[in-house]
Amino acid sequence: MELQQAIINRRSIKSFDPKHTMPEAEIEKLLRLAILSPTAFNIQHWRFVIVDDIDLRNKIKDESWGQDQVTDASLFIVLAGDLMAWNKSTSRYWRNAPKDIQDFMVPTICDYYDKKPEVQRDEVMRSCSMAAMNLMLTAKDLGYDSCPMDGFNFEKVAKLLNFPSDHIPVMFVAIGKPLNDPRPRSGQLSIKQVVQYNQF
Ligand SMILES: Cc1cc2nc3c(=O)[nH]c(=O)nc-3n(C[C@H](O)[C@H](O)[C@H](O)COP(=O)(O)O)c2cc1C
Repeated sequence: MELQQAIINRRSIKSFDPKHTMPEAEIEKLLRLAILSPTAFNIQHWRFVIVDDIDLRNKIKDESWGQDQVTDASLFIVLAGDLMAWNKSTSRYWRNAPKDIQDFMVPTICDYYDKKPEVQRDEVMRSCSMAAMNLMLTAKDLGYDSCPMDGFNFEKVAKLLNFPSDHIPVMFVAIGKPLNDPRPRSGQLSIKQVVQYNQF
């Protein structure tokens, strides 16, 4: 599907066919493209938790306002962020760059995030959001629909999925075959209402 058409056609779908199974090759393609989404300083701190255990999905659904997408999606991904990725073998993120760039980047990255929990958290939110968009557009391209979700209890989901203490859940992306057409868009603002030139 052409990119612009995928953007136009992507909608948040609430009802997926629970009987559909996604082939492994498609899951791999989705992930392969998701990890090409950009991250500040290339620290790639998104983590993709694929939940395919139905008991676990049911438990997550209980913590997600009972939303059916959690159990019925063909692929259910919890996007998570590693808040401390910037400090874990930092040189690996620039290992293919020329030596002078490596020598500059590694201390710069550490200085940028060190003792700044708000920056660490904001950055994870930005990066996972961009990865989520890549997932949703790729899904559309492969003939699937999707739903981004943050209607869940973050603490409880982190506990259910055994998150390390320096990881946080950011959002879910549910992907599957839709059972219904989406309703018309609920109330799109105009370009005029959301765009400013130069200053507010
Ligand atoms: C961060 C985020 C969280 C969302 N959480 C949920 C959710 O928990 N459940 C749901 O059904 N839709 C959720 N949505 C979908 C929005 O309701 C939807 O994107 C919005 O109404 C616009 O519709 P569209 O995506 O079909 O264009 C979420 C969307 C975003 C971006």
